[in-house]
Formats: sequence, structure tokens, C-alpha cells
Amino acid sequence: MTSTALSLKAKLEDKSAVIGVVGLGYVGLPLAVEFARKGFAAIGIDLDTRKIDSIRSGTNYIQDIKETDFKEALEKGFTADANYDRICSCDVIYICVPTPFTANKEPDISFITSSAASIAAHLRNGQLIILKSTTFPNTTEGHVMPILEKAGLKLGEEYFLAFSPERIDPGNVKWHTGNTPIVVGGVTDACTELAYLTNKQIISQVHKVSSPKVAEMEKLLENIFRSVNIALVNELAVLCDRMGGINIWEVVEAAATKPFGFMPFYPGPGIGGHCILIDPYYLAWQAREFDFQTNFITLAAETNENMPFYVRDMILREVAKLPVAFSGAKILMLGVAFKKNVDDIRHSPAIKVIELLQKEGAKEIQYCDPYVPHFKEHGTGSTVIEMSATPLTESLLKSSDIVVITTDHTVFDYEQIAAHAKVVIDTRNATKAVRDLHPHLAPKIRLLGSGTR
Ligand SMILES: NC(=O)c1ccc[n+]([C@@H]2O[C@H](COP(=O)([O-])OP(=O)(O)OC[C@H]3O[C@@H](n4cnc5c(N)ncnc54)[C@H](O)[C@@H]3O)[C@@H](O)[C@H]2O)c1
Repeated sequence: MTSTALSLKAKLEDKSAVIGVVGLGYVGLPLAVEFARKGFAAIGIDLDTRKIDSIRSGTNYIQDIKETDFKEALEKGFTADANYDRICSCDVIYICVPTPFTANKEPDISFITSSAASIAAHLRNGQLIILKSTTFPNTTEGHVMPILEKAGLKLGEEYFLAFSPERIDPGNVKWHTGNTPIVVGGVTDACTELAYLTNKQIISQVHKVSSPKVAEMEKLLENIFRSVNIALVNELAVLCDRMGGINIWEVVEAAATKPFGFMPFYPGPGIGGHCILIDPYYLAWQAREFDFQTNFITLAAETNENMPFYVRDMILREVAKLPVAFSGAKILMLGVAFKKNVDDIRHSPAIKVIELLQKEGAKEIQYCDPYVPHFKEHGTGSTVIEMSATPLTESLLKSSDIVVITTDHTVFDYEQIAAHAKVVIDTRNATKAVRDLHPHLAPKIRLLGSGTR
């Protein structure tokens, strides 16, 4: 290691290193809070001034961060800025910016490259940059490194660069930033060692790999693994609906009794969030550069993306049985967050279903979601879907023609829902206990993947 590397190592070991976090969203804010709580001076940077104002006024906007942890971080000196002026004082800089796809599902790494350019403008001797945003292999070396190189410093000797993907699972009460093992791969050995040591300050288990590319691909494997397995059960759910008499949820529950070689995945109205829906397309796009079609991965992504259309069709079928025109049917959607017990609506399948129903002419859609009081989302093309939540009441359930459970939030009272709704479409098996305990309510529940009509 060079004297510069050794000096950074010493600063990390005695906790005098200043940690910068660029992008204070679902990934960045918990990370900055964790470092501050562990006694490091932590500086957050985000271009969204509302987030900076919120932090400065002591208001936590990430549901997963405990209020006490957030306050502790502020008390220990965590500060945030909407510009890069203080990046120079940081010894380590994490990049946690979004990696969305374009309307045509091509990777958009412009947030990474623009934040790298802002860092490069201030880059100094002794800094370590760790990219955490999920992206395609070779982003760190092929896109970030050339930008940082413009600062004129020698990589691996004067400054350091690594990729260490994020594994946070919002809403997961067991696994969080501090106790989830993490992977790290640096451009040089010194980069890997320093990034390893940095992560070790807040995470007990850090796994080193030989390069950023391996770490980038590893992260995509994790998310594509989920996408493929969810697609598999979604396909089986559609088949079970077609066959009738077989409940896919019971099938998965039974298969899950096998103690080896099987992991349960569950069907649903589609996948959402900022990761599993997007990441397969990052790899598929890159594979084409190598004359390679990721057919299997792309088919899984397509299968999952078809599910909101499938749920729309379930709703259309049910409404067709009623003495109401589709435009006037009162459709109540329960949950618009992309998964249970979170407030994240990015790429939510529930909102996709709403968009599809509106395209079919539905005019009387309402939704209940205690986590999402209001939303405004862009749909296909120039479509904008904007709605406010309605409180879930007995009279609302009774007056709705059809109730669709799109997100299985724990706070919903499924017994009340099943008791008062006329017809329930359950896309998450949220009514299992109700059906078991109150079999007389089962006939009005149409469970996705069970063939109930
Ligand atoms: N959310 C998750 O559960 C999760 C899990 C694992 C990995 N990831 C990955 O982590 C990355 C970040 O995801 P997220 O959910 O935290 O996104 P987010 O949208 O919640 O947060 C990103 C933040 O970056 C800020 N930002 C954008 N450009 C910036 C710039 N140039 N300079 C400074 N700030 C900038 C945005 O204002 C935003 O606050 C993505 O690549 C995502 O795929 C997310």
C-alpha cells in the first residue's frame, strides 16, 4: 500500500475518516445514519433540496430508519448539503444515486456519471469512492473511472475506487444495513482493501471479490434470481387459474416443506420497486453488445410485467358479471405500495393496474393505503395517474362493486374486508386466514392462482 492508502487506513481504524454519501434516498440515508451512529463524521449530499431541508429540520423521511437512530445520527454531527462543496473534506465517498431505465427500457446511468463528474471536480489525494448503485458490469471501470481520471490523480495510489452493491430490503425487520453481509470489489487490491475496511466499520460480514465487474454482476444475479423465480410461480399461478382445482399458494407451501433445494417464491399482481423490475433489463441491454440475447432472463421479466394485465383481466371478468357498466363500476384497490408495509410506489404493479383499468374506461376507482396518502405517477407515454387515498371503512367496502387486494399490508383487517365486500379479488393470498377461519366468506373471494371464479 502507498503512504496515501496507509494514511486512509489509519483514519478508518481510528474513526477520524469523514464519510460522504451522495444520494440520500432509500439506500444512502440509512448508510449515512449508520456511519454517524458508529462515530464517524458523516456528510450527506443530495440535489433534492426537500430532502436536505427535511434532514436539517430533524425530520426523517425513510420509514425503515428508526427515529431514535436518526436523532442519534444528527446529535453525533450528521449533516447534509444540496451541493458538492464539502466533498473535498470527505475521505470516503459512497455514490447511492438512482439507476432507472428509459421509456424503452434501456439503462440510464446518467445519475451515476453526473455525480461522478461532480466528485471529480473536487477529487483530492487520499479519497476512496465506492459506487453502490445497482448497474451493469463495467460501469465502475468503464464509466466512473474515466470521469474521475480527469482529476489527474493516480488510481490505486493517490485515490481509490470500488463497487459495493447495496442489499437493503425496505420493510424487512430482520435484515438491515448493519447486519446484512455485503460484497466489495475494488479496481486494485488497495482499492478492495480500503473499501473492505470502510464497510467493516458498520457491517460485520464483508465478502471481497476480485474486481468491480464481479461485484456488479453478483448484484444483478441476486435480483435476476428473484425475478426468474417469481416469474416461474406467476406462470404456474396463471396455469392453476386455467386448470382450476389447484391452489398455487398451497402448492408453494407444500413444496417449501422440502428442507433443501427449494426456496419459496410467491405469485402476485406483478413486481415493482427500484430493483427487480429494472435490473434484468440492465443485463439484457449489455448482453446485446456481446451478440448475446438473455432470452431466459427477458422472458422472466416479460412474464412478471404481464401480471398487471392479467389482474386487469380478472377484474374485467368479475365486473362483466355485475349489472353495471364498466365505466361506472366502483372498484376499490387495497394497497398501492409496490410491496407490503412500505411506502414505496416506484413501478408499483397496483398503479399499473389502475392505469390499465382507466384505459378500459373505469371512472370510479378508489384506493386505500395507509402508507401512501397521495400519489402522482407517470404511466405509459404521457399518461399521469394522480389519486388520493380514501379511508378504509365498512361503508366504503359495502358500496364498492369489487375490492382488489393489490398490496397485502399487515394493517388491513382482512376479516372486515371479506365480511363487508361484495367480491374480493385477492392477488396476494392475504385472505388465507380469513378463508380458513370463516369458510362461509370464501365463495366471494377470487384468489389469484387458484382457479376461483
Ligand atoms: N431501494 C432499494 O431497496 C435498493 C436496494 C438495493 C439497491 N438499490 C440501488 O441503490 C440505488 C439508489 O436507490 P434508492 O432506492 O436509494 O434511490 P432513491 O431515489 O431513493 O435515492 C437516490 C437519491 O439520489 C439523489 N440524486 C440523484 N442524482 C444525484 C446527484 N447527481 N447528486 C446527488 N444526489 C443525487 C436523488 O435526489 C435521490 O434522493 C439504485 O441504483 C438502486 O437500484 C436500491
